Amino acid sequence: MSTARSLTIRRPDDWHLHLRDGAMLQAVLPSTSANFGRAIIMPNLVPPVVTGADAQAYKERIEAAIPEGHDFTPLMTLYLTENTDADDLAAAAQSGLISAVKLYPAGATTNSASGVRDFDKVSNVLERMAEIGLPLLVHGEVTDHDVDIFDREAVFIDRILDPLRRRFPELKVVMEHITTEEGVNYARDGGDNLAATITTHHLIINRNNILVGGIKPDYYCLPVAKREKHRLALRAAATSGSPKFFTGTDSAPHTQANKLCACGCAGIFTAINSMSCLAHVFEEDGALDKLEAFSSLNGPAFYGMAPNEQRITLVRDDAPVEFPRQIWTEDGPVTIFDPGFDLFWKVEQ
Ligand code: NCD
Ligand code: ZN
Repeated sequence: MSTARSLTIRRPDDWHLHLRDGAMLQAVLPSTSANFGRAIIMPNLVPPVVTGADAQAYKERIEAAIPEGHDFTPLMTLYLTENTDADDLAAAAQSGLISAVKLYPAGATTNSASGVRDFDKVSNVLERMAEIGLPLLVHGEVTDHDVDIFDREAVFIDRILDPLRRRFPELKVVMEHITTEEGVNYARDGGDNLAATITTHHLIINRNNILVGGIKPDYYCLPVAKREKHRLALRAAATSGSPKFFTGTDSAPHTQANKLCACGCAGIFTAINSMSCLAHVFEEDGALDKLEAFSSLNGPAFYGMAPNEQRITLVRDDAPVEFPRQIWTEDGPVTIFDPGFDLFWKVEQ
């Protein structure tokens, strides 16, 4: 194990983040903007962010919520629907308003009802995106009732993603929040137009954490955490330094009332302690020297952006860093991800 006490790296970015809106946005944004320079903002609001005008308005609401003294840039996305207008999308991309487009198979996850059922209906949009080099961010799970929830990512790769990439070989694709060995292998072997984000929590929990010794809704997210061999594959990929893999926390806050109920929401709130968790994981795997690639270099390189000029310093303390168990929002408390072990690294503020 490394004995480093401090580590200075380029300011990280979060390439997959849910900020929500209203009171929740106000409450959760500072956790991200304290640690990350930029974030790809997920468009699954209710109603979703589907047009350039929606993205512009949402961007302004986010910018208005950035605390004084925080230097943070939201990178906006559009939510792909079967009615998406290719011209509106291209104009939003060309003006620099949006950085990517998100594909949710209809019904795959929280607020995905307006997603895509028939992929032929979006082929003109995908062609246009390939032309202008706008990345497609894919929630890679099929929604077929006959496919087991633990197999939905692997089946998606075979049935949907691989055919789609063969049809649009020039399209840049990010496999969002991969959770399986199959996802790792497919992203790794997929050529320069393909990359994958990995969440903080999928590097730390497997499905036992959700189900053994009583059900733990706070560990429930989509894609659901898989068995241990998959977690280990994700760890190996993230810590390898390969440019194919980068941070996407998928920090997805829900109030405690919406998590702890008969039909609890999927999503884990990790924005506040992600960098501490990542430093812990990379140190444990003897790969602290690869943390900067994962959190600060590989993402911008794939998106064709420069890495952040600013640096952050992570400091390792002897005493555990105290994070609160929850943050308070006007909508109710939101539980912070508990990695199940003490954290010693923290971002010097
Ligand atoms: C996300 C959410 O709550 O919006 N939930 C989650 O479990 N990750 C949606 C998503 O990214 O799938
Ligand atoms: Zn997400």
